[in-house]
Amino acid sequence: MDFINQMEPSFDQHEREALNEYMLGGGWGTEFKKTRAFEDMIKEYTGAKYCWITANGTVSLSAALMAVGVGIGDEVICPDYTMVATPNSAELIGAKAVFADIERETLCMDFEKMKEAVTEKTKAVMLVSINGRYPKRFREIVDFCKEKGIHLIEDAAQSLGSFCKGKHLGRFGEIGSFSFSAPKIITTGQGGALITDDAELSDRIKKIRDFGRDMGGSDHYLTKGWNFKFSDFQGVIGIEQMKKLPARVERKKEMGKLYDELLQEIPGVELVKTNYEDTSPWFFDILCEKREELQAYLKECNIGSRPFYPPLHAEPAYGYTDLHFPVTEEIAYKGLWLPSSIFLTDEQIRYICGKVKEFYKLHG
Ligand SMILES: Cc1ncc(COP(=O)(O)O)c(C=O)c1O
Repeated sequence: MDFINQMEPSFDQHEREALNEYMLGGGWGTEFKKTRAFEDMIKEYTGAKYCWITANGTVSLSAALMAVGVGIGDEVICPDYTMVATPNSAELIGAKAVFADIERETLCMDFEKMKEAVTEKTKAVMLVSINGRYPKRFREIVDFCKEKGIHLIEDAAQSLGSFCKGKHLGRFGEIGSFSFSAPKIITTGQGGALITDDAELSDRIKKIRDFGRDMGGSDHYLTKGWNFKFSDFQGVIGIEQMKKLPARVERKKEMGKLYDELLQEIPGVELVKTNYEDTSPWFFDILCEKREELQAYLKECNIGSRPFYPPLHAEPAYGYTDLHFPVTEEIAYKGLWLPSSIFLTDEQIRYICGKVKEFYKLHG
């Protein structure tokens, strides 16, 4: 069996042919019709009124925060368990990331802990739908933020294809953000997107991502803005990847169910419960004993895996070592992502799960 990477992107002749056609058509590469068409596809899929594609899912979050008026000295509440881009996107614009612990069942921010983190400087909450899951008290978080005048930005970087009761994630806050980096369900190499239903916010995002101007080519700057734009080369790929999204969402759910079935009742392995009605899992995650040994054993069997993100507050980048977030601290050191590429076969998944079982038989 060849080495199975924890995650690989997937392209085929559709991307190759579309890119070739674009190059023969004399496009300039800079964002134009292909990027606008990609945005239209995201709008249609998510049901959002407005969409702006950005250079990546980090600057998209910074742009979203700027659009709602977050700036220097403001506090932004982020879950302690997330990809580091979530808090960093706040710090990039001079705001302070304030961490809150997560709930064990969904690995998303805990509403009670979020409330405890609120101060008079709190200007926004970054709600991360980690791995396509949403918090148990999602509705209450949305209502609380509205009531308190705290801006709610959804970091849905991992959640394209995931819904909550029929509504796409990223549509519950004022702005939702996605990422199209290589490990995502669809990828353009790098890339991000912001969605919103608010015309005014959409207009601000449009300017923030394009030097503060109203249209390309103009040298009239209506506000301070940057260059967070995309390229039409990537737009061409994005369009082809979007065509594959519905089938990928279905396949991810099937794969998740198979993993769940095969990993059930292995002493040493705990599954994170997934509601497949709503969630299209990004990575297949387990909580396990002897994680490092399991990872090494899987590697010997040609199986790649990846440990969960660490508790961000204690990373040298933040250095809040006197703070404690017990749930994040527990799961961060137990969590392992198993192979999650979209093209994995059932046979490969059976092989992977067989090896996990074998490890605990030998070392349980
Ligand atoms: C939750 C989360 N937020 C933000 C990002 C950043 O996205 P990008 O890598 O496109 O900058 C990622 C990327 O994996 C992510 O998982």
